[in-house]
Amino acid sequence: MSVLDVDRLQVEVFETGIALLRDITLSIKPGSIVGLVGESGSGKSMFSLALMGLLPSGVRVTSGKARVAGKSILKGLTNQYVNSSREDIALISQNPRAALNPTMRINKQVIRVLRQRCNMTFKEARSEVHELLARVGIPDVGRVANSYPHQLSGGMCQRVVIGMALSTRAPLLIADEPTTGLDVTIQAQILMLLRKLVGESDEKSVMMVTHDLAVVSSMCDQLIVLYGGQVMEVGPTREVFANPRHPYTKFLLESLESYADGSADSTPSVSENPIDFGLSGCRFSNRCPFSTPVCQTTPPPAIADNTRIAYCHNLESI
Ligand SMILES: Nc1ncnc2c1ncn2[C@@H]1O[C@H](COP(=O)(O)OP(=O)(O)OP(=O)(O)O)[C@@H](O)[C@H]1O
Ligand SMILES: [Mg+2]
Repeated sequence: MSVLDVDRLQVEVFETGIALLRDITLSIKPGSIVGLVGESGSGKSMFSLALMGLLPSGVRVTSGKARVAGKSILKGLTNQYVNSSREDIALISQNPRAALNPTMRINKQVIRVLRQRCNMTFKEARSEVHELLARVGIPDVGRVANSYPHQLSGGMCQRVVIGMALSTRAPLLIADEPTTGLDVTIQAQILMLLRKLVGESDEKSVMMVTHDLAVVSSMCDQLIVLYGGQVMEVGPTREVFANPRHPYTKFLLESLESYADGSADSTPSVSENPIDFGLSGCRFSNRCPFSTPVCQTTPPPAIADNTRIAYCHNLESI
């Protein structure tokens, strides 16, 4: 059974009817790390938020289905409060400090999560704190447990957040830029930790949102390429890197590479003309060198081969 199954998910701005996510279909297998990539504004966070039931006000899921470990998760998810009981997905956010309560010592916060998410008694939770912190590689657990978030480094805070996310036993972890803002050695440690923790369980999977090409290539088994709220291409990372099929993937990999090697000076946001969410066809068509009239008007078909899917009208002629 898949950890995550999404079927034709559509997310719209209620007032204007603009589809911020259109027809998203994908699945994530157990024990895998999947990278969700796409330039700024492509809908990566919106997708994560839709799954978490945390969409901003005025933005809604209008159709489609999503299941985590076979269980439907979007039913009745119309507003934010539902999320407080979200047990099947754990979110590791970009800013670990913001995910922690600044006025509470770490041990208190961990106990609270364990009691709410794992139905533990106070006593059980308290005896679990040190073990949880040790599992994510925190060396001096006693000191960290007794600290407030501001007394800890960013990397240490991220470890705490990852520890709490893992303790929930949620089968799906969504990590939205989990290492952005941390220095390089800490980044590597956090990534190794995530890899190890996924490797230890056959059931847990991670969906990692990232801009970082090095992270994607070293961490992710599968890649989902998003543009303008549409999936452009899905496939095993190595194959997609070695031979991108979709014109947007080619373009994205080139711009990510130039960012990584320093020849571009900002994060890849290639949009001189911004993403056009009004297009009824392929959202990339107004920037695509291979665009034909049908691309503007008709959503692209899914062209599948053994392991990969690309959504494009013109794959044959590229
Ligand atoms: N509250 C909102 N109402 C309407 N549109 C929104 C709202 N918040 C974001 N958007 C739009 O939704 C689109 C997707 O945004 P999202 O934050 O998911 O992008 P992203 O891929 O996560 O980008 P980044 O890499 O910068 O984090 C963007 O075009 C954005 O302008
Ligand atoms: Mg985002």
